[in-house]
Amino acid sequence: MPVIELVKGKTYKYCTCGHSASMPFCDSAHVTKGGGKPILFTAEKDGGVALCGCGKSSNKPYCDGSHNG
Ligand code: FES
Repeated sequence: MPVIELVKGKTYKYCTCGHSASMPFCDSAHVTKGGGKPILFTAEKDGGVALCGCGKSSNKPYCDGSHNG
């Protein structure tokens, strides 16, 4: 559950393939390595947001606490 500083109104690409060297963001590694496509999302506010780092959240890219069990 990394807390990432986001900028309101900016669109981000959240990695779902697990191959990015810039986690939790997509660096286009999925193009050659496969395994998924990024989730595009736009930050609704400035500041820290908990993004999913375990892959279990049902509300990706956001953490929903699923890593706790
Ligand atoms: S690098 Fe993982 S989705 Fe693009």
